[in-house]
Amino acid sequence: MSNRPIGIDIEAAPQKGVAAEVSGQAIIAARDVHKTYAGAGEPVHALRRVTLSVARGEMVTIMGPSGCGKTTLLNCLSGLETIERGEIFVEGRSIHDMPDNERTDHRARRMGFVFQFYNLLPVLSSVENVELPLLLGGVGQRESRERAMAALENVGLADWAAHRPAQLSGGQRQRVTIARALVNDPAIVWGDEPTGDLDSTNANQIMELLEDLNQRNQQTFVIVTHDENIGRRANRTIHMRDGLIEGETVHRELGS
Ligand SMILES: Nc1ncnc2c1ncn2[C@@H]1O[C@H](COP(=O)(O)OP(=O)(O)O)[C@@H](O)[C@H]1O
Ligand SMILES: [Mg+2]
Repeated sequence: MSNRPIGIDIEAAPQKGVAAEVSGQAIIAARDVHKTYAGAGEPVHALRRVTLSVARGEMVTIMGPSGCGKTTLLNCLSGLETIERGEIFVEGRSIHDMPDNERTDHRARRMGFVFQFYNLLPVLSSVENVELPLLLGGVGQRESRERAMAALENVGLADWAAHRPAQLSGGQRQRVTIARALVNDPAIVWGDEPTGDLDSTNANQIMELLEDLNQRNQQTFVIVTHDENIGRRANRTIHMRDGLIEGETVHRELGS
């Protein structure tokens, strides 16, 4: 159990409407998480007393105005950023208590990431971009290629394997990043505004794909968005404001 007081007086604000009970079934469980950025001026309390849990196989969207802490929350939950206080369990393990190399390894093996601006390497083809994490992880060339092709097929891009990012539409590029996120068969897929750079038609198609993958593979999806149409396609939306969880909306029960 970790508790990292930072010696600042954080205003006590009640958390309303959230099923704060962290259940044993949760694949992600966060309790009383605080994250503060110390800058040149006043420290920014990006997360204040955040408690939440996500069930295995659930698709959750995180919504709230710009600057409310959505990206910070995602980065803290996935162990990309440290926290000052509280605890976060992913698949039963306290990620901020793991040694750095274990946490990095856990991320590489168990998590996939999809960001707004693709982060694809422009000189590599689709299949080369998708197989890269496998090659870096020590998987052989032949197996990497086979798995990357299967992942591209999964997102409907088998015919675009040899194309480079510049030759693809925004929607297709985002499919490549989704294939890359899925190539390791992760337990959790994190998305930070994955449809933020797309028009509404493409955004809806990407969301349909994520929903379909969630249903087919029983993977857990946690997706940040500021788009209401995207947000309500999940099982549940968590609403944030000023570093706090304000409440949640259940759209459909898990498994229904
Ligand atoms: N690396 C950083 N250093 C200092 N302040 C930061 C940093 N990252 C985010 N912040 C601040 O933390 C708050 C939450 O940011 P962020 O999580 O990016 O919000 P959102 O993703 O909801 O737009 C904002 O006030 C932002 O300016
Ligand atoms: Mg953000």
